[in-house]
Amino acid sequence: MGAQCKGGRLLALLEALDVVAGYGETEILHGVSLTVGDGEIVTIIGPNGCGKSTLLKAIVGLVRVRTGRVTFRGSAIAGWPPERIVRGGLCYVPQTSNVFASLSIRENLEMGAFVRRDDYRGRIDEMFRLFPDLGLRPGQKAGSLSGGQRQMLAIARALMLDPSLVLLDEPSAGLSPAMVGMVFERIREVNQSGVAVVLVEQNAREALSMSNRGYVLVAGENRLEDAGEDLLNNPEVASLYLGG
Ligand SMILES: Nc1ncnc2c1ncn2[C@@H]1O[C@H](COP(=O)(O)OP(=O)(O)OP(=O)(O)O)[C@@H](O)[C@H]1O
Ligand SMILES: [Mg+2]
Repeated sequence: MGAQCKGGRLLALLEALDVVAGYGETEILHGVSLTVGDGEIVTIIGPNGCGKSTLLKAIVGLVRVRTGRVTFRGSAIAGWPPERIVRGGLCYVPQTSNVFASLSIRENLEMGAFVRRDDYRGRIDEMFRLFPDLGLRPGQKAGSLSGGQRQMLAIARALMLDPSLVLLDEPSAGLSPAMVGMVFERIREVNQSGVAVVLVEQNAREALSMSNRGYVLVAGENRLEDAGEDLLNNPEVASLYLGG
């Protein structure tokens, strides 16, 4: 699915294989694997503290991969500094503190382009087309935006580097149901513009129903992996993550 063939071998866009990672003495991920094909939406669900955010951080180099492999577009990226990974087209939107509150919308987008050496102004206009709300008042401080607008800005900021994959950590957290729907709609449009998406989500039903595939992590290990729709119909997933 979405894989390309190189030297006779099938290559995913992103492949994490048996990733072991943690903090200090504590091991959190005990050998987690995740594959993302070109243009896919892949959702990760699992209980609080199971390691979802840690997995995203390990993929983008913010948490060290102790053993295992992470391959992005055929390059083994484990151990690369985050800036190099991001420049290569793999961007990450953290769960919290993902915009600069004291900077304006436009300044946040400029910060998102920090590793670009070319003229990125056209890209800002593209972001305003994709997220019309942001284009209405580009001078507004990010700190005064609604929760939904702020998530949109965080995603737009990550997209400034024109990535082929974005990792989104709970973009709908804390939003009203209407805002959740709007953020998911925008994520779908981002995906339709050709960007693969990895989504960590508590709103499992909405996320899985727009995903090609999904993963369930439990206690730092892969528990289930299936097509989004099949996970939605899985009785274990339904009882634990979809409210019965
Ligand atoms: N910086 C850190 N230092 C030490 N332990 C951490 C750190 N960040 C996370 N942990 C621990 O690692 C474990 C996994 O955390 P992680 O944030 O990856 O889980 P999660 O699945 O994203 O949870 P949630 O659904 O609550 O966001 C938890 O026990 C957490 O307390
Ligand atoms: Mg988390």
